[in-house]
This record gives sequence, structure tokens and C-alpha cells, in this order.
Amino acid sequence: MSHPAPTTAGLGEIDIYSADAYEDGIPHESFATLRRESPVHRHPDPEVPDGFWAVTRHADVVQVSRNPELFSSYERLSLLQEPVGDSLDTQRMMMLNMDPPEHSRLRNIVNRGFTPRTTLTLEGKVEAACERIVDAAIEQGEGDFVTMCAAELPLVVIADLMGVPQEHRHRLFHWSNKLVGAEDPDMGEGPEAGAAIQMEMFQYADQLGAEKRACPVDDIVSKLVQPDRDGNELTALEFDLFFMLLAVAGNETTRNAISGGMLTLIEHPDQWARLKADPEGLAATAADEIVRWVSPVNAFRRTAVQETELGGQKIAAGDKVIVFYSSANRDESVFADPYTFDIGRDPNPMLGFGGGGPHFCLGRHLAKLELEIMFRTLAQKIDRVELTGPARRMRSNFLNGVKDMPVRIVPA
Ligand code: HEM
Repeated sequence: MSHPAPTTAGLGEIDIYSADAYEDGIPHESFATLRRESPVHRHPDPEVPDGFWAVTRHADVVQVSRNPELFSSYERLSLLQEPVGDSLDTQRMMMLNMDPPEHSRLRNIVNRGFTPRTTLTLEGKVEAACERIVDAAIEQGEGDFVTMCAAELPLVVIADLMGVPQEHRHRLFHWSNKLVGAEDPDMGEGPEAGAAIQMEMFQYADQLGAEKRACPVDDIVSKLVQPDRDGNELTALEFDLFFMLLAVAGNETTRNAISGGMLTLIEHPDQWARLKADPEGLAATAADEIVRWVSPVNAFRRTAVQETELGGQKIAAGDKVIVFYSSANRDESVFADPYTFDIGRDPNPMLGFGGGGPHFCLGRHLAKLELEIMFRTLAQKIDRVELTGPARRMRSNFLNGVKDMPVRIVPA
């Protein structure tokens, strides 16, 4: 397979892939250059001799996301790094790494728990959790915002939704940190430790599944261990893998959106003042704008399964293709003033939850509900949040996250 050299001189130096490139935040200048000069760009990759195609424009990210028959999640999985060891077959049984029609079967089974209607039934619980979390943070006064507010809400909600007893919710926190924070020396511990964590999680899931099968209640695990109306059900391994996916996907992402959102509001005091003046009216658009601005999930991978064209580039079968949501979310051909953080932005066609298509984030209604209620509650109950030291970014090219953020909470 031969590929043309990058078309524009100098672009070969651009790095939007290594964790180092994200040391000081999303490399927006590099993304802007690529969108302008080489929107589907051949980028070097330490793991793949020919590199990968970096897809940086909104329209092309949508195009890739909505055409799984051309751009597969199954072929070489959907995480950025090459799959390790013999994990390929197991990983391919996870929804995130499937293509239709297999993906559709699984997604239809789990969709039951995530419709907008089901999500709305959680509103009261999310409100109560936000009240409790923000009151406790006010009481504490000073500390790490991530621990006090951002980590706690998604954990409480996902545990409730899945039927994990609240006293076990910190296990979910521990597991998802270890599995996702692999590149961060303070968080992950590499692939071998990852396998052990996965085993621990599967054992927990099996036990919980058995309990729910014996005594079903109104939670997702109870639904998933029973056949649906058409008799479809998950295999034991599919159930374990979905349990793991939910625990990770529902936690880290929302946590990073809350902490990244608060940090952004501290850096934009005019927008914080606007939110405080009208929390009911602005919380919903603020939630979308926070996800656009922070882009908690930076990118996902696809593999081309046949020769095709994208943004004027010829893509060969087998080529690695990475869609960068954080770049699409600043695309100047879609967003007016993309570098302005505007909590009233409407419409806001951001791609923080993906570019549509079969894998469009399953938990997006829930995540938006959590963000909306958390920021509404914060704006109602506190005067402001002040940084008492520098916020530290998580070391990753996959998640744009705040590791910790020392703050003082000043009550209203
Ligand atoms: C998939 C982002 C919260 C569950 C995704 C994708 C993105 C994403 C970018 C991949 C889309 C694609 O490949 O086209 C986010 C962000 C969140 C968030 C930014 C928070 C702000 C959640 C929550 C849950 C969840 C709360 C569950 C409770 C999932 C699942 C998938 C997914 C299961 C895989 C869907 C599939 O493969 O069909 N999310 N997510 N996410 N998300 Fe989220």
C-alpha cells in the first residue's frame, strides 16, 4: 500500500496524536492548520508504518461516523491504539467495537434503558444528588473540585441506573480510572493490570446479574439479564462487557465535562455571571456548549474496509482513520466564532457525543441531564468558585480531562 506524502510542506511536523501534544490542552492551533490546509491528513503513528488519516473537519467526521460499511469499528477496534495481544476477539464483542448488523442487535437490547423518556424519570434523583453534592462542597469550603463535585455525580447516577449498591460505587470509580487512565502514571497501570481489573469487574458483574435475575427491580442490570419482548438477550460475556463499557463510558466522560466546564466558567467570568443571572433559562445550552468546548472524548478510530474518498483524499482499504471531535467542535465553517465560549449558543451542532451514526453516544441524554442540573444547582447555590492552585490535566490523547483542581467554594 503506498500513500502520497503530505501535500503541504511543513505539516509533517504537526503532532496531534502523542499524549505530549496534549500536555497543555487540546492543540487547537495545529487542528486549525490542518482543517485549513490538509483536513484529511496523513499523520505519522508510532504503531502503524503508514501512519493514520487524521480527520479534522466537522463534515468529514460526520461522514466517517455515519458510514460504518466503509469505516469499520470492528476491523481494528475503535480505540486509538492498536489492539494488544489476543484481546482482539473479546474486544470485538463490545458494542463500541462492532459494526451493523451485529451492533444493531446489541444496541437495540440496551437502548431500552437509555431512551429520552427513561432518562427523564431520573431527573428527580439527579436533582437530589446535585443538591447534596453542592451542599457538601459548600460545607467543605476548600478542596479538589474533581473529587468534591465532578466525580461524585456520574458515579452516584451510574450506580443507581445499573443497580450497583451505592456503597460499591467507589469500586466503579477505581476500575474505570485504572482502565481508562492507562497513559497517566497517576492513574493507569498498563495492559496486564488492565486484564486483572477486567476480570475483577466481570466477577462483580456476574454476581450482580445473578442477584438481579433472582430478584429483578427497576434498573438496567435487571432489564439486561432478562430477554426483551422479542426474546433477544445478551450472552453472559456480552453482559459483562456491556457492564464494563457502561461503568467506564458513563463515568470518566461526564466527570471530565463537569470539571472542564467549571474550569472554563472560572476562566470566563462573564459567562459565569450570565449563568448566575438565569440558571433555569441557560443551563441546557450551557451544557451543550461545555461539551463542545471541553470535548471530553477527543477522538475515536475507524478502519477503512474498502477504497474510498474522503475530503479529497483517496483512502485505501485497511487504512487507519481517526476522527477528532475536538477539532470538529471548533470548525469555523460550522460554528460562528468557534473560539468564543458562549453558554447561550443555539443551535449548537457540536460533535462531542460523536458524529451520529450507529455508535452515537448511548448516554448523551443522561449526560446532558447531569450537566444541566449540576451547573444550574452550582449557579443557584454558590457565588463563585476560585482556583487556589493550578488545575492538572490528565495525561491522555483520548480523553480531555482534569485530573485535579484545587478550589475555594464561595457560597451565595
Ligand atoms: C459512545 C462521548 C457520557 C455511554 C460515545 C462516543 C462518544 C461519547 C464520542 C462515541 C461515538 C461514536 O463512535 O460515534 C460521551 C461524552 C459524555 C458521554 C462526551 C459526557 C459528557 C456517556 C454516559 C454513558 C455513555 C453518561 C452511559 C451511561 C456510551 C456508550 C457508548 C458511547 C455505551 C458506545 C455506544 C455504541 O457503541 O453504540 N460517547 N459520552 N456515555 N457512550 Fe458516551
